[in-house]
This record gives sequence, structure tokens and C-alpha cells, in this order.
Amino acid sequence: MVVQKRFVLVKHFDGMPKEGDLKIVEEKLPALKNGEILLEAKYLTVDPYMRPYSARALKEGDTMMGEQMASVTESKNPNFPVGTNVVCSPGWCTHSISDGKGIRKLPSLPKGLPYSLSLGTLGMTGMTAYFGVKEILNPKAGETLFVSGAAGAVGAVVGQFGKILGCRVIGSAGSEEKVKYLKEIGFDDAINYKTTTDNLDKKIKELCPKGIDMYFDNVGGVMTNTVMMNMNDYGRIAMCGAISGYNAKTQPTIPHVPIVSKQLKIEGFLVWRWMTRYPEGIKQFSQYIDEGKLKYKEHVTNGFENMFKAFCELFTGSNFGKAIIKV
Ligand SMILES: NC(=O)c1ccc[n+]([C@@H]2O[C@H](COP(=O)([O-])OP(=O)(O)OC[C@H]3O[C@@H](n4cnc5c(N)ncnc54)[C@H](OP(=O)(O)O)[C@@H]3O)[C@@H](O)[C@H]2O)c1
Repeated sequence: MVVQKRFVLVKHFDGMPKEGDLKIVEEKLPALKNGEILLEAKYLTVDPYMRPYSARALKEGDTMMGEQMASVTESKNPNFPVGTNVVCSPGWCTHSISDGKGIRKLPSLPKGLPYSLSLGTLGMTGMTAYFGVKEILNPKAGETLFVSGAAGAVGAVVGQFGKILGCRVIGSAGSEEKVKYLKEIGFDDAINYKTTTDNLDKKIKELCPKGIDMYFDNVGGVMTNTVMMNMNDYGRIAMCGAISGYNAKTQPTIPHVPIVSKQLKIEGFLVWRWMTRYPEGIKQFSQYIDEGKLKYKEHVTNGFENMFKAFCELFTGSNFGKAIIKV
């Protein structure tokens, strides 16, 4: 008999997630029925979307939502023999039983790359960067791309992809260490938004002397409003996320004047739109990694029990790279 550990939502988040909002429960899983498989989590992911989505999608008492990379340890389903590696979404749990529906089998990764990448650069966050850049921004060589949340799981990939496509890329992030890293992986320049509060507009003008053609927005708020003021006519904005507002009680107003006067094109998107095209993006990014053109950085937390702590770190900027939990 296998014991499953899972995090359940005790109380909907109010402001910053707090100790006591989630708790771990343990439960014995039943024996498998025909057609079912037993999955054991190897890597789990914490992602910012879980904060706003939990309010809409979960009831108190539900298992916290999310993807994981898991292996089949018992099988009564011939399509998933023991040892099959998959990405699945049973939520924050160590073990789960599935009938195989909605589960993505993983190919073996090139050159011993870690399977955790299937939750990051070769998974949801990488595909957000791939399709957000390619399908929403559609960059042309020589254009200026500004990326907020640039040192994160999505942002760092967006910026590197922008460089591969021939753009001038400027990012914003929350520490000097992150700014240094962005320059190391090829960003033309980067801004520490935490120390540039009073002269953000001036700094953006200095680093983007020809204005901004494209903005990949991961954070929203003051950063987004200031970037919009510095966009060129007909600029394109990929609205990917707004982490600066996920724990906030009130949201800043939208700056209508630059949107209208610069005739900006703004498109929000969810990566799930391109779910069936993931293999295309994964193939392209695997190739870039193999060629040394795309670097990945993971922030690995050891131990399932530490998953909530890893989740909270997303909102203080303590993670530096894709936040992964190694069971
Ligand atoms: N549309 C989609 O389908 C989709 C898919 C995946 C992710 N997203 C969105 O993309 C964004 C980035 O996600 P990610 O997975 O790549 O996370 P991440 O950037 O790896 O981690 C979150 C980062 O956000 C930054 N942050 C936290 N609070 C902030 C604030 N108040 N203002 C500015 N930055 C703040 C922190 O970095 P600093 O140290 O730089 O502050 C932190 O490290 C999120 O908004 C997420 O919801 C959207």
C-alpha cells in the first residue's frame, strides 16, 4: 500500500501566502484497477499562476494545483509500462493514480539533461516564452524587446530567444546578482527595478535610445506603465503575467494615453493555447540548448515538505531561475 502526501488548501490566500494556508495530509492509496497506473513524483513545480488561479479553481480542502514530472511505478495500463516518464497534473502530491488521460509521455532528453527541464525550459514556462515571443510579438531583427521579470523561468528564456532572433534585448529584475546574470546570458543590458524606483523612466530611456518595439510583460504594475510610456508607435505587448499584483488588494489603473496615442497592440495569452504544438517548441529549444545558444537556470528546493516555502519565494524574488522541487 502506498502512502500519498499532498498539500491541501486550508484557507484561500489573502495577500501574501502564509503558513497555515496549506497543510500536508497523508492518505493510503487504493490498489490499482484495470487501466490505471501509479505515478511517483520526481520533480514538482511551483508557479506564480497558482496564486491567482487557486482563488478561482479551488475550494478549501482541495489539493493544490500543479504539474509534476513523475514515473510509472505500477501499471495496469499497457500504454504506460512501469518506468515510463511523464508530465502530469495531479497537483502537489508525491503519488497519484491515473487512468492515463491528459498525461504527456516524455521522450528521453539529449545529453543527460535533467528531467526537471520538462517543467521549465522544455515545458510550460519555456513554451510560454517560445509561443509568446513567436506568435504574439513576432520579432524582426533589429527591434528592441523589453522583458520584465527577466531573470525568471519565463523571462530569461524570452530574452535569450529574442537575442537569437536578432533583437536588442533589455530586461528588468530585482537584484544586482540577477542583472549581472542577464548580461552574462546575452541580454544587452538590464535594470534592477528595486534600486531604480525614482528614475525608472530615465533609465529605460537611456537603455532603449530608439524606444521599445516589443514588451514581454511578466509583472504588470508600475513597470508596465513606465514601459508603455516608452514604446514606439504600433508597439506590440505580450501580456503574459502580472506578478506584482497577485497578492495586492488593489490594481493600478491602465495608462490609456500611451496605449491610444502610440496605437499599441496588446494581447494577453495563456500558453495552453499552443498545447498541441509543444513538440515544435521543445524540439527548437532542445536544439538551442545543445548548441549552447540557450542557457537554463534552475532554483531547486529539496524535499516535498518544503514545497510551500518554495512557492512563497516566488513572491519575494528569492528564487533565481525556474523553481523546482526535487522530491
Ligand atoms: N500566460 C501564461 O500562460 C503564463 C505561463 C507561465 C507564467 N506566466 C506568468 O509569467 C510570469 C513569470 O512567471 P515565472 O514562472 O517565470 O516566475 P519567475 O519569474 O521564475 O518567478 C517569479 C519572479 O517574479 C518576480 N517578482 C515577484 N514579485 C514581484 C513584484 N512585486 N514586482 C516585480 N517582480 C516580482 C521575482 O523576481 P525579481 O527578483 O526580479 O523581483 C520572482 O523571482 C508570472 O507573472 C506568471 O504568472 C504566464
